Amino acid sequence: MKMTKEQKYRLLEQAEPGELERLAAQAESCGWRQRYHIQPHMGLLNDPNGFAFYDGKYHLFYQWFPLGTDHGMKYWYHVTSSDLAHWTDLGIGLTPGGPYDSHGAYSGSGIVKDGKLHLMYTGNVRDENWVRHPYQCLAITDGHAIATKLEQPVIGSVPPGYTDHFRDPKVWQDSDSYRCVIGAQRDDLTGTAVLYRSKDLLDWTFEGELQTSLSSFGYMWECPDYFELGDQGVLLFCPQGIEPQGERFRNIYQSGYMLGKPLESDRQTFEHGEFAELDRGFDFYAPQTTQGPDGERVLVGWMGLPDLDYPTDDKGWAHCLTLPRELSLRNGKLIQRPAAGLIGLRGEQITFSAELNGESRSFAGVEGAAYELQVSVSPAASDCKQGMFGIEFRTGENERTVLSYDASSGKVTLDRSQSGASLSPGYGTTRSCTLSSESGDRPIEFRLFVDTSSAEIFVNGGEETFTARLFPDSASTGISFFANGGSAAFEGSFWSLRENAIPRGLPTGILE
Ligand code: FRU
Repeated sequence: MKMTKEQKYRLLEQAEPGELERLAAQAESCGWRQRYHIQPHMGLLNDPNGFAFYDGKYHLFYQWFPLGTDHGMKYWYHVTSSDLAHWTDLGIGLTPGGPYDSHGAYSGSGIVKDGKLHLMYTGNVRDENWVRHPYQCLAITDGHAIATKLEQPVIGSVPPGYTDHFRDPKVWQDSDSYRCVIGAQRDDLTGTAVLYRSKDLLDWTFEGELQTSLSSFGYMWECPDYFELGDQGVLLFCPQGIEPQGERFRNIYQSGYMLGKPLESDRQTFEHGEFAELDRGFDFYAPQTTQGPDGERVLVGWMGLPDLDYPTDDKGWAHCLTLPRELSLRNGKLIQRPAAGLIGLRGEQITFSAELNGESRSFAGVEGAAYELQVSVSPAASDCKQGMFGIEFRTGENERTVLSYDASSGKVTLDRSQSGASLSPGYGTTRSCTLSSESGDRPIEFRLFVDTSSAEIFVNGGEETFTARLFPDSASTGISFFANGGSAAFEGSFWSLRENAIPRGLPTGILE
């Protein structure tokens, strides 16, 4: 049941007696709660926000509407980790409801200055005619307490030429000043991003539009992020309104990147290559990155999409974040690998191997609902251009999720048509991508992280990733490996993963 405007734009203190407890109990009893992903105690989680390494730890926040699974009054919820695998729950990080964020503390980023974590975000205000007014706001925290907001926004208006779809500031340090990129919509209703500069994070000067070659690429760009990796400048953004093209752009909204020459300090021109999707799966949006203590670039995404219904909606909660991924470059592509610290979740290792020819096989102990699975598949020399090889997982009575590699086309496909409760079937039940041609002569490497209601798949050391929510029966825990129309050697390792992040009940201090 959809909520009314009045129900959606309520602060926590406006909850009905017992409402939060009811939502928490509903969420807690849901069979699709994740075991090792960041998920909300109750209500709706969306974008990762304020991701920063500060005071010896990663601080990560997410967009959170506590009182239902609609997109309503957004808070920031705060968690920390030193290894990107085990998370500590710190409760609310930023509270909306002020004059400049009366209808939500929308997405933004974090940066450390003068020993404090500074959060720059979009305050969402709706006036009596429900017209949107975005303000770019600043809040400061010591990393423990709820952030203290400045009384006035740091960017109080939208520059001429852009509509009120103007949000999601991402800040970085650029020599002796700061720069930020903000997602925007031009007056002609095309999406873009703009740049601002500041010496102190307080006074911001509009530099102009980020000059790319994309004059008409969707109607809005959400959640832009800019950073440098090796000798490349990388721009991430989420364009809305892109039509599907073959295997690409199959989801309701897209999330991708462009590589180019690093932005020069005094210029707004970004000379870049083609827009490429970050993830080839179903449920991935609004990623944000930060730099770790050793210079590593870490990305976290929202494992969900706006404007779609999910099967947990009527269980009082929706969505989770992806696992953190470390970024690197290889052959002009962004490579994503699961954060190294995730091996800290592993239980005992089970190894297996088999030569399969026109058959399917399972291995003792290789099954479950929360695990990591690494498999390398080497088609026989005679079959490296034919045959279909792969893995069926979360299998049970009438249920299976299928990951396959078609040797004749070099295509990897994830099929969730029989994965359990269906979601957004209007956007199709399979996703595919064709591996780069150099992949042809090597074994195909799959690394899967499966949780109660999701799978994240890293192909060939992170050359491609597929992220998907799956809603199978709890009894569907089988895994099998198959080789159809050819033979291949399978070799792999399996680890059950330890539970680490199930929030239960009400967050502490929620109404303090
Ligand atoms: C992306 C987004 C952002 C916005 C936030 C609101 O999912 O729409 O553009 O700031 O979510 O929750």
